[in-house]
Amino acid sequence: MSLIRLSLHQFRNIRTCTIQLATGFNFFIGPNGSGKTNLIEAVYFLGLGRSFKPDLINQVIHNEYNELFIHGVYVNSSKLELPIGINKKHNGTKIVKIKGKSGQKISQLAKILPLQLIHPESVELLLGAPKFRRAFIDWGLFYTKPEFYNVWGRFKRLIKQRNALLKKVSNYQSLIPWDRELIILAESINTWRGQYVKSIQFMLQDILSILLPEVNIEFEYYSGWNKDFLYQSILEKNFVREKTLGYTLCGPNKADFKSYIDGVPVDRILSRGQLKLMVCALRVAQGQHLKKTTTNQCIYLIDDFASELDNNSQNRLSNCLSTIDSQIFISLINERDISKRYNKNGKVFHVKHGVITERKRKN
Ligand SMILES: Nc1ncnc2c1ncn2[C@@H]1O[C@H](COP(=O)(O)OP(=O)(O)O)[C@@H](O)[C@H]1O
Ligand SMILES: [Mg+2]
Repeated sequence: MSLIRLSLHQFRNIRTCTIQLATGFNFFIGPNGSGKTNLIEAVYFLGLGRSFKPDLINQVIHNEYNELFIHGVYVNSSKLELPIGINKKHNGTKIVKIKGKSGQKISQLAKILPLQLIHPESVELLLGAPKFRRAFIDWGLFYTKPEFYNVWGRFKRLIKQRNALLKKVSNYQSLIPWDRELIILAESINTWRGQYVKSIQFMLQDILSILLPEVNIEFEYYSGWNKDFLYQSILEKNFVREKTLGYTLCGPNKADFKSYIDGVPVDRILSRGQLKLMVCALRVAQGQHLKKTTTNQCIYLIDDFASELDNNSQNRLSNCLSTIDSQIFISLINERDISKRYNKNGKVFHVKHGVITERKRKN
C-alpha cells in the first residue's frame, strides 16, 4: 500500500513536478530552501487537506498563482490503483477528487491515506499541550474504531453548547438533560481511548527498546476526570466554578497520555534528541499497530531526518525504519546521513530550487 505516483502543481516553490515513487524508501536530498519540506508538506496536504505548518491563508499556493493541485495514485491493499487529488484556490475553496469524482470529503482522503509525520517540531507531542496527545490517540481510533469519529464530533458539539448554556442557566438541574447524553458519549470515548492506549503498548515498548534502550518509559492514560468519582457527580460538583469560568472543566476534552521515567515526566529527563526518538517510537508503533490490526497501512513522512540526532541515534532510527516494510518519505540535507543503506530498495530524488529530479541508478 503506497503512493506510486505524485504530481504537484503550484505548491509553494514547486511549480510543477511528477514523480514515480518507490514502495519503500524515497529520499529527497537538497540544500536549505530547496523545497524538501514543501514536498513532504504536499503529501501531508493530499492526505489531510491542510498543512502541518501554522495556518497562514493561502501560503501553500505558489505566490505567482491562484490555485494549487496535488494528485496521487495510491495502491490499496487489494492492489487497486486509486487516483486521489486536491485542488485549493486562492479564495480558500478546496475540491477533493477520488477516483475521478469531485466533491468528496477530506475525511475520505484521510481514510485512504493514513499518514504519520515526523518533523523537527514533532516533539510538541511530548512537550506541548494535552491536545496533541489526544490527537495522537484519536488518530488511532479514527482508523480502528469507525464509530469514534461521529461520537467524538457529537461530544465536541455538545460541550460547545453546554459551555454556552453555562452562562445562561442558574442551577445545575437545567443542565441535566444535556449532561445525560454527554455522559454516555464521554464513557464511550473514554473506554475506546483507554483500550487503544493499552493495545499499542506492546508494539511501543518493542520499538522503544530499539530506539531508546537506555531508559524504561512508562505510559499512563488520563481520562480527563478523576475516575474515583462518577462523571455526573463531577459535573454537578463543578457547576458553580464552571459557570464562573464559562467552560467545562473535566471530561474527554481534557484527556491526556502521559509518560514517565521512574515517576518523573519524560520532558524533565530526556534530551531533545532522545525526545525526538521517543516521538519516532510513538509514531512508528502507532503505524505498525494499524498495519497489524487492519487491512490499512500508513505512509511515513520524515522531514529533516538528521535534525537533533547524533550518528548513533540516526543509526538506531534507520535500523528501525528498515524493518517496518512501509513506504517512507525522508528529507535530508546530506546524502551520507542515511541513503546509502537503502539504495537497493529505494529511490533518491534531488531537490533544487523547487525542481525534483530522480537520480538514475548506476548499473
Ligand atoms: N507560496 C510560496 N511560493 C513560492 N515559494 C515559496 C512559497 N512558500 C515557500 N516558498 C519557498 O520555499 C522555500 C523553502 O522550502 P522548504 O521546502 O522549506 O526548504 P527545505 O528544502 O530547506 O526544506 C523558500 O525558498 C521559500 O521562499
Ligand atoms: Mg526543510
